[in-house]
Amino acid sequence: MVQEDNKRRIDELFANGFLSKEDFKKLIDERNNESAEYLFEKARIRQHETFGNKVYLRGIVEFSSYCKSNCLYCGLRRDNDNAERYHLSEEEILACCRQGHAFGFRTFVLQSGEDLSYSDEDICHLILSIKKEMPDCAITLSIGEKTREQYQMYYDAGADRYLLRHETASPKLYQKLHPADQTLENRIRCLKDLRDIGYQIGAGMMIQAPGQTTDDLVTDLYFLHDLQPHMIGIGPFIPHHDTPFRDEKAGSVELTLYMLGILRLMFPKALIPATTALGTIDQKGREMGILAGANVIMPNLSPTDVRGKYLLYNNKICTGEDAAQCSLCMSGRMKSIGYETVITRGDAPGKGPHEAKMNI
Ligand code: 5AD
Ligand code: SF4
Ligand code: FES
Repeated sequence: MVQEDNKRRIDELFANGFLSKEDFKKLIDERNNESAEYLFEKARIRQHETFGNKVYLRGIVEFSSYCKSNCLYCGLRRDNDNAERYHLSEEEILACCRQGHAFGFRTFVLQSGEDLSYSDEDICHLILSIKKEMPDCAITLSIGEKTREQYQMYYDAGADRYLLRHETASPKLYQKLHPADQTLENRIRCLKDLRDIGYQIGAGMMIQAPGQTTDDLVTDLYFLHDLQPHMIGIGPFIPHHDTPFRDEKAGSVELTLYMLGILRLMFPKALIPATTALGTIDQKGREMGILAGANVIMPNLSPTDVRGKYLLYNNKICTGEDAAQCSLCMSGRMKSIGYETVITRGDAPGKGPHEAKMNI
């Protein structure tokens, strides 16, 4: 039975898109299977109002595993001497996009560690080359913390969107998860610069990162409410064997799904992926994520020979498959739960293509 207080909270969240901190906390702490089911039903109503049964696909190209940062949770952190490093050339990245385009992808997410070997000119040239060849595509960058001037340059070259998870909006937890030279303050500065420049921005947090409390999650919900990002990526924390958090417990599918349901009710129009991390901790994680309110899937377009090297966490899925296999697999999986994958750019409502101010 849905516990009465939580039913009331979910109804209020459905009606207003927001709750007091105390109600959010109790909604999370007092959850059970029934309240989760009730939450997901409501989340699917909002999801269907905006997106019907459509799921957007974004092809992700993990183009470099070098990283100057040292996030304690991540397998690509610079202190991990066991990480295998690679970076792709512009031609190799273009080839991945070309292949993705043939499969129907109209958004490419270019993701990497914070690799300083690509200059700003390299990044701009890459964006211009992709846009020149595939003008009907959106480009999403996910390459970390930069200066406002750099973000502006990439935008002027034609980049449409930027993903930069805030990881946690709680300063104390942020410091526990990162070395002293990486600050929450700068992370937030980056997100605000990106938004002000005109990007569609994506933020998000890990669920059950070491030391995370319900209060921290409520802080994240309030932070996101304030930021109003167009995209929100969340996934369970998963330990990586060569990091200081190797012995920490992984986040649960159950809480991740519950948070997805809450986010859908708070942000009816947001683009919310069912992430690879969710698919990694449960074979059906991505399907369950869609059924909890998510509406985006990001299949991997990286070349097969480097996939096994972009390891943020243990047992990452899809490292043995190629782009064709993942594409087919994903449309089949979505069909099996009554959803349809679509090949439009899938911009945030009210946002669309923007003209580049640069030429090659
Ligand atoms: N477990 C889950 N997610 C992780 N990320 C990095 N390391 C891990 C991990 N061990 C996430 C971070 C980052 C995104 C690219 O991957 O949230 O922003
Ligand atoms: Fe680098 Fe990103 Fe991993 Fe942090 S999460 S170490 S910035 S790749
Ligand atoms: Fe990669 Fe299923 S999505 S194998």
